[in-house]
Amino acid sequence: MKVTLETSDSIAHSIEVDPGQTLMAAATANGISEIVAECGGTATCGTCHVWVDPTFANLLPELDEREDDVLDGVIAERRPTSRLACQVVLAAELDGLVVEIPEEQW
Ligand code: FES
Repeated sequence: MKVTLETSDSIAHSIEVDPGQTLMAAATANGISEIVAECGGTATCGTCHVWVDPTFANLLPELDEREDDVLDGVIAERRPTSRLACQVVLAAELDGLVVEIPEEQW
């Protein structure tokens, strides 16, 4: 399956991912350094913040309280489709997912 991450310089990075991976793990494994992921995926740092294309927002699981709290503290604007990439598990129905990476992660 494939996902696309758009960086703030308007470059779209389409990468092949394995179902079950997190979006953060897939991005960092593919060298997308704009996903900082300082905490390594424990949902504590907020440096894997992405804006999910609204087309896909309803396919993602609900935010849990921890992710919601961390998103309250991100540096870039929090939008209705803001998520932490480390909490987005790439289920098969997310094939073709598109997200935007904010310019600022910290
Ligand atoms: Fe730290 Fe996602 S990697 S919150």
